[in-house]
Amino acid sequence: MKNVLFVIGSLRKQSFNRQVSEYVRGLLENKAKVTELDYADLPLVNQDIEFPTPDALARVRREVLDTDAIWVFTPEYNFSYPAAVKNLFDWLSRPMTEDRFSATAIKDKKVIVTGIGGGNQTKGCREKLTALLEFIGAKVMENQVGLSVNVEAWTSNEVVLTDEQKAQLEQQVRDALEMLA
Ligand SMILES: Cc1cc2nc3c(=O)[nH]c(=O)nc-3n(C[C@H](O)[C@H](O)[C@H](O)COP(=O)(O)O)c2cc1C
Repeated sequence: MKNVLFVIGSLRKQSFNRQVSEYVRGLLENKAKVTELDYADLPLVNQDIEFPTPDALARVRREVLDTDAIWVFTPEYNFSYPAAVKNLFDWLSRPMTEDRFSATAIKDKKVIVTGIGGGNQTKGCREKLTALLEFIGAKVMENQVGLSVNVEAWTSNEVVLTDEQKAQLEQQVRDALEMLA
């Protein structure tokens, strides 16, 4: 079974994105092994602390190297991606040894992108995230899903997916499994 590493772009406990990731996790059950990347303890990118490699970065890199694909679930912050997501991928874009031409953990890694947010379905976030991921050498799956949450979720914190949204996610799962086959 292939491995899929979930990256949740939101750090908040009741994250809409985490809720949707749980729905996708259910769709992947018995089809792929899902783990969630814990990256909240990554320091901010700073070349002064790059070597020796900080423990949190070494762990994150290992998980990325060991997975067949990364699946990013992310909110949109000001028509772009959250700073935590940028920090993660900036670290992953760095060479793993002091030889500046050495390999990075993200090169050629397959990445699936799903965005959950407000009215514009995270369009600005996904466009910019795709540009970033392609720039650092990741292989971004073409079928991206962007969802607007139900209006009530803004007060109840409970995402209720429509049948159409579920169908979009189901198609994305089929495409992801085909890409990984
Ligand atoms: C700094 C900031 C900027 C935001 N900008 C946008 C935005 O540009 N577009 C949007 O749809 N939602 C925006 N939001 C609202 C988020 O979509 C909302 O907070 C959502 O709940 C975040 O996803 P989460 O529930 O997974 O944390 C913004 C939220 C924050 C905190």
